[in-house]
Amino acid sequence: MIIGIPKESLTGETRVAILPAEVKKLSSDLLKFKIESGAGNGSFIADEIYAESGAEIVSDVYSDSDLIIRINPPTEEELSKLNNGTCLISLLAPFTNHALVNQLAEKNISSYCLELIPRSTYAQSMDVLSSQATVGGYRAVLNAASHLSKFFPMLMTPAGTIKPSTVLVIGAGVAGLQAIATAKRLGAKVEAFDVRPVAREQVESLGAKFLYMDLDDSAETDSGYAVEMNEEFIRKEMELLHDAAKRVDAIITTALIFGRPAPILIKDYMVNDMQPGSCIIDMAAENGGNCELTKPGEIIHHNGVTIDGTLNLPAQVPYHASQMLSKNISKLLTEVIEDGKIKFDLENDIIKGCLVTHEKNIIHEMTKNIIEGNT
Ligand code: NAI
Repeated sequence: MIIGIPKESLTGETRVAILPAEVKKLSSDLLKFKIESGAGNGSFIADEIYAESGAEIVSDVYSDSDLIIRINPPTEEELSKLNNGTCLISLLAPFTNHALVNQLAEKNISSYCLELIPRSTYAQSMDVLSSQATVGGYRAVLNAASHLSKFFPMLMTPAGTIKPSTVLVIGAGVAGLQAIATAKRLGAKVEAFDVRPVAREQVESLGAKFLYMDLDDSAETDSGYAVEMNEEFIRKEMELLHDAAKRVDAIITTALIFGRPAPILIKDYMVNDMQPGSCIIDMAAENGGNCELTKPGEIIHHNGVTIDGTLNLPAQVPYHASQMLSKNISKLLTEVIEDGKIKFDLENDIIKGCLVTHEKNIIHEMTKNIIEGNT
């Protein structure tokens, strides 16, 4: 079987799906890798390093690969190059990218969707959402620190004592917890809030202060995700966040609801009351943003406050982001490949969870229902 790794075409993308270490580990008489020339350039991995690990460097990976592994969903042009009857592993944004899912089914491409890998303990090592959220949370803090005109840590110097900056993290999931840990390491005072009661202990164990509000266990689904909160809750939450926004130097927002637009938690009047020189890093920008002023993909200034809606933060830490992706994907490959062939064993929870199209059908129930308008 031939596995093809194309160079990512998304503007600003620097990551690559597989690193040479995993190429070397997985290559065998039954499994060969073809890497598009330059695919590793953004992560500072030259073609020669891939060649030394056993891959063949080619200008076109699509023509004879049985399986294409990519990070971002294929464009129309890339989709047209995928041979009918082959297999794809990629992020697909299947709940919004209906046309892509329909075309994959029509072309008889079996697609494994990276976003849909079950978030179980067993599948943790394959979970690209978690690994990339970890990278994003880290990078968000570095970007906040560089926007501020202040130090993060407290400094006692002959030129006087510098007070530490205060960082507020909204949403203490994978990205938020990493942001808290990173901001703490840089010496900031950190406050955080999340709707899931379990997050309180996790925030406090990192040495941050959890903002107090009555929380309810029903804010969390069985799979660990937050549920969409009602208007009354969001109103009270915004009061809490408004008070904090007046005091803090940086806000990092990460609040997301699975399959829904990001909740708006920071309104313009709250930004107006922030200190001049402060900043907001809106990690939810990809899903619309948690701040109503965020412009996804842009850094704007509003009344002296920087609002950073930069997309794809993991691409700003390309080497380690690619390393984590590569480990995730190689674990997934060991789950879906047996004796040099791809398995479509729907008794396997991982395969059942993330196989979206197969044999010309959309077989992932939730995706199918959303596309057919049944939910
Ligand atoms: P996410 O990216 O969907 O959401 C980020 C955070 O936003 C969550 O913590 C959520 O509670 C929070 N949020 C939603 N609405 C909010 C609001 N109105 N105000 C404040 N915060 C709000 O979630 P993520 O980070 O992907 O995962 C969340 C949790 O799921 C993890 O902390 C973990 O408990 C669980 N999980 C379990 C995994 C496993 O067992 N393999 C893997 C990944 C996550």
